[in-house]
Formats: sequence, C-alpha cells, structure tokens
Amino acid sequence: MKKIAVLTSGGDAPGMNAAVRAVVRKAIFDGLEVAGVYNGYQGLIDGKIKNMELGSVGDIIQRGGTMLRSARCPEFLSDEGRDKAVEQIKEHGIEGLVVIGGDGSFRGAYELTKLGIPCVCVPATIDNDINGTEFTIGFDTALNTIVDAIDKIRDTATSHERTFIIEVMGRDAGDLALWAGLAGGAETILIPEENFDIDDIVERLASGTGRGKKHSIIIVAEGVMSANELAKILRDTADIDNRYSVLGHVQRGGSPSVRDRVIASQFGARAVEVLLEGHGGKAIGMQKNQVVDYNLEDVFADHHETDMTMYKLSQELSI
Ligand code: ADP
Ligand code: F6P
Repeated sequence: MKKIAVLTSGGDAPGMNAAVRAVVRKAIFDGLEVAGVYNGYQGLIDGKIKNMELGSVGDIIQRGGTMLRSARCPEFLSDEGRDKAVEQIKEHGIEGLVVIGGDGSFRGAYELTKLGIPCVCVPATIDNDINGTEFTIGFDTALNTIVDAIDKIRDTATSHERTFIIEVMGRDAGDLALWAGLAGGAETILIPEENFDIDDIVERLASGTGRGKKHSIIIVAEGVMSANELAKILRDTADIDNRYSVLGHVQRGGSPSVRDRVIASQFGARAVEVLLEGHGGKAIGMQKNQVVDYNLEDVFADHHETDMTMYKLSQELSI
C-alpha cells in the first residue's frame, strides 16, 4: 500500500481534527502518501481530494469541528453515487480509506469495502452510540459542555426555586443524558433505554421539595421527547411550574477535551496500522480501556449497549 486517504462524515464531533492529524502524521511516519477528502462522501464523489503533508494538520489538535468539513450525502446511498466515488478513489491512486464518523458513515464504509476499497472506521460522534466501542470521539467533550450548562442552570434554578428541564442530544441513545445527568447531579434522567412514568417523576420532585430542596433538574434525552413536551405534561398533569432549555448544537462544538484528543490520536494511528496490515472492513474502538479493532459486520449486528449500571447509580444517588 502506497497511498491512503482520510475523510470525516456525518455529524461533526470535537476531536475529529485530532483524529485526522493522527491519520496523516502516522501515515507519513510509516512512509505512506496520504490525501484528505473534503466534505465526507460528497467530496469523494466530487473528487475534492488533496494530498496532505505534515504541516497540513498543524495547529488543529485543539480545534473543534473538522478541517476536512463534514456532510450527509444522500447520493452515496445509491449504487451510482458509490460507483462515482470508487472512480475518484482509483483516479487518485488511493488504496485504503480511513472514515471518521458515526454509525451511518460506517455503513457507507462497509459498502465501499465491498466494492474493493479497504476502509477502516474511526468512531466519532457525540452520541456514543456505536456498537462495540465503549467510547466514541467527541462524547467526553460534549459531556463537559452539558455539565457546564447544568451547573449554570442550577444557579438560577436555586435562586428561583424552580424545576428545570434540560434537553440533550443523543439521537436514539441515552448515553449523553445519563452520564451528564449523573455528573451534574440531576434529580431525574429520562433516556430511551428506560421506560418512565410521569407519576414517578412528580413523586420524586415532591419528595425533594418535601425535604427542603430548592430546585430540581430533569435531563431528557432527545430520543425520549422534547423538553417542550415534557414541560407541558408537568404543567398540565401536576401543575408543576418549570422552565426548559434545549442545549442543541452547542453540544457539538468546542475545543476537544484531553480524553477526546488522546483517544482520537490512538484511534487514528491504529486505523493506519490496520490498513497497513492489509485489513479493510474494520472498526477501531475502545474495550476495557484497550484500543481494539473488529469487523464492521459486528458493529451492525447489534445495538450499542448503554451502561445501565450508571442509570441505577444515578437513581440511587438522586433520592
Ligand atoms: P453518522 O455517520 O454521524 O451516523 P449519518 O447517519 O448521517 O451520520 O451518515 C453519514 C453518511 O453516511 C450519510 O449521509 C450517507 O452518505 C452515508 N451512509 C449512511 N448510511 C449508509 C448506508 N446504509 N449505505 C451507504 N452509505 C450510507
Ligand atoms: O449524531 C450527532 C447529532 O448531533 C445527534 O445527537 C443529533 O440528533 C443530530 O446529530 C443532529 O443532526 P443535524 O446536524 O442534522 O442537526
């Protein structure tokens, strides 16, 4: 293998830049040529591909977003779109591809691998929803952003003795809500993985107020319902005055945490090694604190498992 390429795809995540840097630097260290593909799979189809040097990835490890830009690309879902991408890949002499992104991007990489282009995937999404890895790049930074917001909202919630609902991202997964809720001391955490009962929530709020609590924080994952809906339910069914806040895309930005920079560096470098070992159709991940690689088929074989011991713990600590 003489030349590889790297792209970022899907929802961006803090730490993607650190992963791009790791891929480029490790490839050059190992004697490979390396190209950057701009705008994800769309850039692959359109041939937006540029050779990268050591300096191309200077001064980016600390930056959020992705210097290669990202995109969602409907054209890549079709055979015709993917055929165009393969043509470009061959025209540029690219023999392997590192795809940095989420579950959807992994599926695209799987299809490309089936067309004879070895792809290795690096998990990067704030949602932490990829099967087979305990952590994805961007999750830790997003958690820190959310917890910072919880702390600030708690100040005003206490001053006004209010109940606050905070809606966080996560798509169909509850990891962001769960970990941030635990770290932020939320009274109630609603995640898609666990059924909830409004009467239970009302009871918890009442018991907190009963023992002199000045405020309550409820974290709701977007996969459960919107904060707006929950606010209305609490007002209509239990006459609970509340305010709500939707954190939105602020969760996707910001300088990556140390943790995200470190795993991005480890994952990116390992992805290059796996390509050099002659393997395509692989994902890189973290299992029991070790960097591992495994088959893309295994990613799709099951859903990501949210650590429900965290849920139990949060319930026990927020009585
Ligand atoms: P993420 O990677 O963050 O999960 P998306 O689900 O939007 O984001 O996927 C990113 C892109 O990956 C899509 O816009 C599409 O181009 C490609 N993709 C997603 N699913 C498939 C699939 N089943 N086959 C081929 N390409 C796919
Ligand atoms: O997958 C990351 C994510 O931020 C999800 O948490 C959220 O549901 C979605 O992307 C938002 O996507 P968009 O960038 O299209 O608004």
